[in-house]
Amino acid sequence: MAVLTTGMPRTGPAIPAYVPQGNECRLFETAWTRRLPLLLKGPTGCGKTRFVSHMAARLGLPLVTVSCHDDLTAADLTGRFLLKGGDTVWVDGPLAQSVRNGGICYLDEIVEARKDVAVVLHPLTDDRRILPLERTGETLEAPSTFMLVASYNPGYQNILKALKPSTKQRFVMIEFDFLPRGQEIAIVAAESGLDEARVAPLVDLARKLRALKGQDIEEGVSTRLLVYCACLMGSGMPAREAVLAALIEPLTDEPDVKAALTEIASAVIA
Ligand SMILES: Nc1ncnc2c1ncn2[C@@H]1O[C@H](COP(=O)(O)OP(=O)(O)OP(=O)(O)O)[C@@H](O)[C@H]1O
Ligand SMILES: [Mg+2]
Repeated sequence: MAVLTTGMPRTGPAIPAYVPQGNECRLFETAWTRRLPLLLKGPTGCGKTRFVSHMAARLGLPLVTVSCHDDLTAADLTGRFLLKGGDTVWVDGPLAQSVRNGGICYLDEIVEARKDVAVVLHPLTDDRRILPLERTGETLEAPSTFMLVASYNPGYQNILKALKPSTKQRFVMIEFDFLPRGQEIAIVAAESGLDEARVAPLVDLARKLRALKGQDIEEGVSTRLLVYCACLMGSGMPAREAVLAALIEPLTDEPDVKAALTEIASAVIA
């Protein structure tokens, strides 16, 4: 299980750069103030994780990130008894730790987690705000500084993996999408160091390729891939090569689709 713990005091390291899409920063702050859990949905690479790290740093809260996967169980989150030097000791999982210490616990790709995870999340995400640790008999009460944030990509969902309404309806939800052209150009330029004039055609190409989502490709080009592409170009790689490696290859394994995407790219990128 990938768990990342970061603590950023207000006076500490720089706040990760984040360009808002709408009212999400205000919504996050209000949800935090009112102790409401938050669910973020949107396509891959559109800024969900960056948003959470930005807000955690802005609010001066420690952030525990758990990347959920299909083997992730409730016990992985709450904790388990482990053998240590002949003794059996209880070791908190990342969620229990975060509830004890306060701060933000961020469950990335929550739909991937096993069904039993919902059982531990439900009492924590309604007005009880408790985390019962079944195996120790302890019940943790979330402090006022604790906030649960989760995210998922609705595009990857299938019937088996969809979040249950009873889980969804325990969260305030924010929908993310790719930013408008001008803002996305500014972000990619700022993140990669490539000038905006050279980034603009890449964003235009990405917008064309995104229109093909659901037809030939499963997901559109993410802002993340645009940043990669601009980084390659900024290091001197010719645009065509960078576009192929960062914007086209990651989208498809089908030779025909790749040829079609390359043709679209040649019309946009000189
Ligand atoms: N609004 C934004 N402000 C600043 N940078 C952004 C923004 N949106 C996207 N980015 C850039 O895109 C990259 C990818 O964003 P991020 O990792 O947050 O995506 P994500 O939505 O969490 O994707 P995934 O669902 O795959 O985890 C960031 O590292 C950052 O460079
Ligand atoms: Mg993410």
